[in-house]
Amino acid sequence: MSTIVVNGQQRKFKASPDTPLLYVLRNELGIMGVKFGCGLAQCGACSVLLGDEEVRACVTPISALDGKPVTTVDGLPQRWASQKGKLSADTLHPVQQAWIDEQVPQCGICQFGMMIKVTELLEANPKPTDQDIREALTTSGPSPHLCRCGSYAAILEGAHRAAKLMMQGDSA
Ligand code: FES
Ligand code: FES
Repeated sequence: MSTIVVNGQQRKFKASPDTPLLYVLRNELGIMGVKFGCGLAQCGACSVLLGDEEVRACVTPISALDGKPVTTVDGLPQRWASQKGKLSADTLHPVQQAWIDEQVPQCGICQFGMMIKVTELLEANPKPTDQDIREALTTSGPSPHLCRCGSYAAILEGAHRAAKLMMQGDSA
């Protein structure tokens, strides 16, 4: 048995060190807020935060975690709560709330990775421009984050709304 920290909890798993993180999260730990799209680091559906950095879980072997904690979209409320100095999460993460407010998802399959990427962006850049958001979702990773439903305009609006909600949360 080995252990990893996922969404603030220490979890045990049996998989060998070369197993992709995606398979451990979904198949062993039952964390379904991380999706299998291409399996080749080409779409972003499987994105998670490793520490503060977005990685593609489909091509990240467990051995590469280097002790860093993993956050999936399921863990965003707890991540936001701990950033606000709270022990438990009583609200959604602002990025999740913004996605609801702006009705961003269509089929939804890509949106888990989109929210992770936007969270990474906003933690580093609280007031991004349209261009910053576009670059984050297209050129800053191994491939663009793809949405086959074409929800890109809504994603842009969602990211701006999330930035505002995060700033309101910071001043609350
Ligand atoms: S499933 Fe990992 S990038 Fe597509
Ligand atoms: S909402 Fe369907 S793939 Fe993006």
